[in-house]
Amino acid sequence: TFEQFVRAVRQGVSPRGETYYPAFPFEFYATLTDQDMADLWAAVQATPSVDRPSEGHDLRFPFNVRAAVKVWRSLFERTADYEVDASRTSEWNRGKYLVEGPAHCAACHTPRNLLGGLSSKELAGDPNMQGGGASPAITARALTAGGYTRDSLVQALRTGVTPTGEVFGGSRAEVVHGSTKFLLDQHLVDMATYLLDLGKK
Ligand code: HEC
Repeated sequence: TFEQFVRAVRQGVSPRGETYYPAFPFEFYATLTDQDMADLWAAVQATPSVDRPSEGHDLRFPFNVRAAVKVWRSLFERTADYEVDASRTSEWNRGKYLVEGPAHCAACHTPRNLLGGLSSKELAGDPNMQGGGASPAITARALTAGGYTRDSLVQALRTGVTPTGEVFGGSRAEVVHGSTKFLLDQHLVDMATYLLDLGKK
């Protein structure tokens, strides 16, 4: 039902009351607005079903113990804390909402502590990404040093090509091709506006 869907996406709890593993990034979706949830539900309903059962999880002990997830969550669960900052433009506020919530850029760009919880160094780059590899900082200072302007950042999120003409690799290319290339121009401008201001205040 729609109510079960909302609970799954925002709180990471299945219709049977089980907690999902954080590989499902519900920790970021807690802030999704009611309107976005309704739109997502409509999109899911309109998607043709696939004739293949869901695959089981391939995790090793102790990560295959769902009860352990409950403990992890009590340590690191984020609360829905998105609030509009009235002193900022609507572009900036929408950008923050998109970056922190639906686009969950922090899943890869914010470093995690030893237990896998997000640290407070927002979007400062993760030298030890889960699943291997590293991600660069995408704070205002790092992006400006990398030659990004609002337009070239929008371009990079749309096409995967950086201001120096390099092409994103690895998991980053997936983010462009599976996600950011489909965003509305305005939403990319919003995100770029927010990111090029991040950490300045
Ligand atoms: C699945 C992991 C993942 C997610 C999610 C992700 N990124 Fe990245 N991102 C990376 C990796 C890895 C790199 C480095 C790619 C490379 O070196 O080719 C990167 C690179 C970048 C760069 C280039 C920085 C530079 O120094 O040139 C920008 C800008 C960026 N990401 C923005 C974003 C934004 C905005 C979001 C949210 C919409 C996001 N990323 C979400 C993994 C991710």
